[in-house]
Amino acid sequence: MKEILSDALFSKFADFFYSKTGIKLKDYKKYLIVNRLSKFIGSDKKYLTFKDFYDALVSTDDPDFINSFVNAITTNFSFFFRERVHFDFLRYFFSKFDFKNNYARIWSAACSTGEETYSAAISVLQTVDNLANYDFKILGTDISTRVLSGAERGSYNVEKLDSNVDKRLLKTYFDKVNNNYIVKDFVKEFIDFRYLNLMKSYPFTREFDIVFLRNVLIYFDPGEKEYIINRIYPYVKKGGYLILGLSETLLGIKHNFKTLKYSIYKKE
Ligand SMILES: C[S@@+](CC[C@H](N)C(=O)[O-])C[C@H]1O[C@@H](n2cnc3c(N)ncnc32)[C@H](O)[C@@H]1O
Repeated sequence: MKEILSDALFSKFADFFYSKTGIKLKDYKKYLIVNRLSKFIGSDKKYLTFKDFYDALVSTDDPDFINSFVNAITTNFSFFFRERVHFDFLRYFFSKFDFKNNYARIWSAACSTGEETYSAAISVLQTVDNLANYDFKILGTDISTRVLSGAERGSYNVEKLDSNVDKRLLKTYFDKVNNNYIVKDFVKEFIDFRYLNLMKSYPFTREFDIVFLRNVLIYFDPGEKEYIINRIYPYVKKGGYLILGLSETLLGIKHNFKTLKYSIYKKE
C-alpha cells in the first residue's frame, strides 16, 4: 500500500524541489511526488515514511542524495528528432554557415537523455562536409545527473528508434549492439555533456549560435521563465537563435529576442 503524503509535507517537498531547481510543483503534482518517491519509502526501504525521507533530505550535505531526489522528480521524456521542423531549421542554418571564418556552438540546455543533442549533431553532420575539420561543438546540459549518464552512453532501445528514425541514418550514425543502437564515436566526438542548473550560474566563455531550450520552460512559472531567458540572452551570438518547444512561447515575458515562426527566437 502507498504511504499517504499530507498536504503540509507535500508543500515542504515542493519548496525543497523549488530551492534546487526553480520549478514550482503545483498541488495537482502531489500524485507525482507520491509515485516517484515511493521507491525510497516503505518497511523494506531505507525510509519508513515520507517524513523520514524528508528529514534526511533537508539535513544532508551529500549532493548525491539530493541529486537522487531531483532525479526522481524531474520529467525527462524526449525522443530523436522531436519537433522535426527545428532540425530542418538547423540544417538550413548550417547550410549557409561560414565555418572558414567562425567557430560554431550549439547548446542543448535541457538535454535529458541526449536524444535532442545527438539529433542536432546528426543534422549538422548531414549538412556540412568534413565537419571534423571545423571548430564545431555541441554542449548538452541538464540538472538530472541520472539522465546525463544515459546521454553520455548514447545507447537507445532498438524498437523506439526503428519506429522513429530513418533506416539510413541508423546505419550511418549508430552501431547496433543486441537490443540497442549506440551512437557512433565520430558523432559523440562533437558533444560534451555537463550538469547545469538553469537557475544557477552559467560558466561559459563563448557564445552559442543556437540554443535549444525545448520542453523545459513549461515547468517554470513566468518569473523564473523570464529570469532564465534573460540569463541566456548574453550567451547567444548576435544573429543567433533560441529555440523553444513548439507548444511553448515567450508571450507575456519581457525579453530582447525577435519572435519568428515555430517557437524560434532571434538575437538581432
Ligand atoms: C521534458 S525534458 C526535455 C528534453 C528535450 N529538451 C526535449 O525537448 O525532448 C525536460 C528536461 O529539463 C530538465 N530540467 C528541469 N529543470 C531544470 C533546471 N532547473 N536546469 C536544467 N535542466 C532542468 C529535466 O531534468 C529534463 O531532463
